[in-house]
This record gives sequence, C-alpha cells and structure tokens, in this order.
Amino acid sequence: MANYKGIILAAGRASRLFPITYAVNKQLLAIYDKPMIYYPLSVLMLSQIKDILIIIKKEDLKSFKSLLGNGKQLGIKISYAIQKKPKGIADAFIIGEKFIGKSNCALILGDNIFYGQNFTEKLMSAKSKNNGATVFSYPVNDPQRYGVVEIDKKNNPIRIIEKPKVPKSNLAVTGLYFYDNQIVNIAKSLKPSKRGELEITDVNKVYLKRKNLYMESFGRGFAWLDTGTPESLLTANIFIA
Ligand code: G1P
Repeated sequence: MANYKGIILAAGRASRLFPITYAVNKQLLAIYDKPMIYYPLSVLMLSQIKDILIIIKKEDLKSFKSLLGNGKQLGIKISYAIQKKPKGIADAFIIGEKFIGKSNCALILGDNIFYGQNFTEKLMSAKSKNNGATVFSYPVNDPQRYGVVEIDKKNNPIRIIEKPKVPKSNLAVTGLYFYDNQIVNIAKSLKPSKRGELEITDVNKVYLKRKNLYMESFGRGFAWLDTGTPESLLTANIFIA
C-alpha cells in the first residue's frame, strides 16, 4: 500500500453560522460531547493515516494546539498550516505541498461527519489504490448544493458537476477524497472558478479525464452530515447524541 498522509481543512469562515463562529472556529464547536474536529480526525485515524496536517486560519492556531497539540497523545503526528485567504478546497494541496512530499494524500473537510457500517472497508479500498483518486458519494435530497456525480450502469463515475442547477443524479460528492501523488501538480494547474476558488471538483474532473477516478458509494443506512447551517448543526448534534 502506498504511503498516505492526511489533511483536514478547517479554515473556512463559516459565515452561515454567524454570530456563533465570529470568535470561535466552527470545527471547535460541540457535536454532542466532543469538538467537531474529532470526527474528521477519527476518519483519518480509521484509515490508518498517522501523519496529519490541519489547515486553519492564523487566529485559530492557539486553540487547535491546546486541543490537539502535536498528536502524540493520540499516537499520531499532527502539524498545522495557515490558509491566509479562503481560496478553495484544492488550495489545501498547494499549502500542503512540502508536507505531502512523495506521499499520496487523503483530504477531509473539517465539518464532515460520517457514520455507518462498513466504513473501514471503504476507506481501505480507497487507500489500496496506489494510482488515481477516490471520491465517496451519498444520495441527497438537495444535490444542487454539492458536487454531483453521474454514474454508468456499473457504478463508475462518468461526469462530475459542481452545484448543477439541474442535477442529473442525486449523488453528492462528500468531503472526503483520496489522491495519488499527482494531486499537488493538478492543484497547481487549476484556475479559480467563478466563485474565485480552486475547486475540488475541477481536480476530480482531471482524474476522470485520465480515467483514473474511482468512486465508493454510501447507501441507505449510512449517514453523512454536514454542519454548515444552524439547522444542520443541530441535526448533527441530535444524531450523534
Ligand atoms: C464543497 C465542494 C463540493 C462538495 C461539498 C461537500 O462544497 O465544492 O463539491 O460536494 O464541499 O461538503 P462547498 O462547501 O465549498 O460549497
């Protein structure tokens, strides 16, 4: 198996949660009895990834360090990097270039919560691919809010569109991605989108074009929760409780 490093992106403004997130980083808010960041961190640990970079805003460094330190108490290694401006998810690989080095890299968004059976198997299946990329899909009621993946009869991804107005499928691409070492060069080659961000969907489109994009599906019985709004934050809290 290729050597994998992991990145957690926790640098957003979380403006939809204002005023809760004016002075506190969203990923430090409670999900029932633990800080939100524990959930994405545990996904990387479940993937047996032990070298983890957390990308945050400068003002949050002190709180993250007092919560997680260098990770030694968890048997892992945690380091931190600062994202100065919200330039998009794919910017994480440019910020993390030195950290990634010659390794493959998994990325998880700091506010994504995954819960369900056979999760470890899916993570291991993604990790076992030395070349290419793996995304994880989840059926949703409001696909226009997400990256949406269209699949063929054999469940292979054939198209990915970021926030389509008229979605052709209900499969959202979740905030968890596994990439081979090409990821840094691909991220560097991207142009900002209309919303001024380096889109993770554009990264995935490159892998798709190279016929190197794999998909794992979460189905019924699995829960993928995001915590972007007060309502979804409350739902996540109730679910985990
Ligand atoms: C981002 C990605 C999108 C993905 C989503 C998952 O959306 O751009 O493809 O489906 O995360 O949470 P954003 O949160 O930037 O709107």
